[in-house]
Amino acid sequence: MTVTPTAPLSQTALLIELEPVVADNLDRHLRVAKEWFPHEYVPWGEGRTFDGILDGEAWAPEDSTVPEVARTALVVNLLTEDNLPSYHHQIATLFGRDGAWGTWVHRWTAEEGRHGTAIRDYLTVTRAVDPVALERARMTHMSAGYDNAHDDEVLHSLAYVSFQELATRISHRNTGRVTGDPRCEQLLARVAADENLHMVFYRNLLGAAFELAPGQAMRAVADVVADFQMPGNGIEGFARKSVAMAMAGIYDLRQHRDDVLLPVLRQWDVWNVTGLDSDGEAAREQLAAQLDGLDRAAARFEEKRDARLARRAGA
Ligand SMILES: [Fe+2]
Ligand SMILES: [Fe+2]
Repeated sequence: MTVTPTAPLSQTALLIELEPVVADNLDRHLRVAKEWFPHEYVPWGEGRTFDGILDGEAWAPEDSTVPEVARTALVVNLLTEDNLPSYHHQIATLFGRDGAWGTWVHRWTAEEGRHGTAIRDYLTVTRAVDPVALERARMTHMSAGYDNAHDDEVLHSLAYVSFQELATRISHRNTGRVTGDPRCEQLLARVAADENLHMVFYRNLLGAAFELAPGQAMRAVADVVADFQMPGNGIEGFARKSVAMAMAGIYDLRQHRDDVLLPVLRQWDVWNVTGLDSDGEAAREQLAAQLDGLDRAAARFEEKRDARLARRAGA
């Protein structure tokens, strides 16, 4: 049964109403999530002492055969994982630290923490990226902190993380592929599998919100799609780095629209949701227009990319 509320539910009411859904999905998550160990994915025997305190060998670009664009993506993805304290602060403040919400917040944080550890260990041991530049970038990025446009709204935040977890999954997967290093690919596929479970968790929650408050849920989704930014967008040089990643097919507009937004929207069955108030109807129309606009922008980008690749092949 779909209920049409007479007044919008407050943030507190939404948290209370969704708590049993959090509890169910937490149980589900704990049943299906597999334990794994970052250290098993790192070829420690290949490690060499660095210069500095222990007087080893300085890092040089030739230390690794990982292509430049893959190094860029690895750094962007790792810095994104590194900013976990800011994300934790944000969701702990919004969702709270009690009950099922709190248990989820802590469990999610622990899983995300593993990602940064695993990727950093791998990159340092295999000398895939400059460790000094990486550390400086981490300091800069974390010092800036992170906040998103809707960090005090439950449904907007759930919509954002539903898309963001899937976006991160795809970015890790495709980064692994372009490294040309099967072991790195194996690690990033493992990380991506976690991101997928995170996506399912948040997607199920917002799915329940569509039952509870369809108009508010639709508004949240339309707003988030309209101004979606990757969580790493505050990284220094992000615009240039994200273009390089898009050119390499790691994460581009087409993937964002077709492989991230559409599958999640399909799960929520947004085009058939009933019980919308007038703002919910307006939000759905805005969402449709947004997706059309993204389709055109993606086509323009693909044309440009094809032309550039053709020029490069002919050069
Ligand atoms: Fe992660
Ligand atoms: Fe995640």
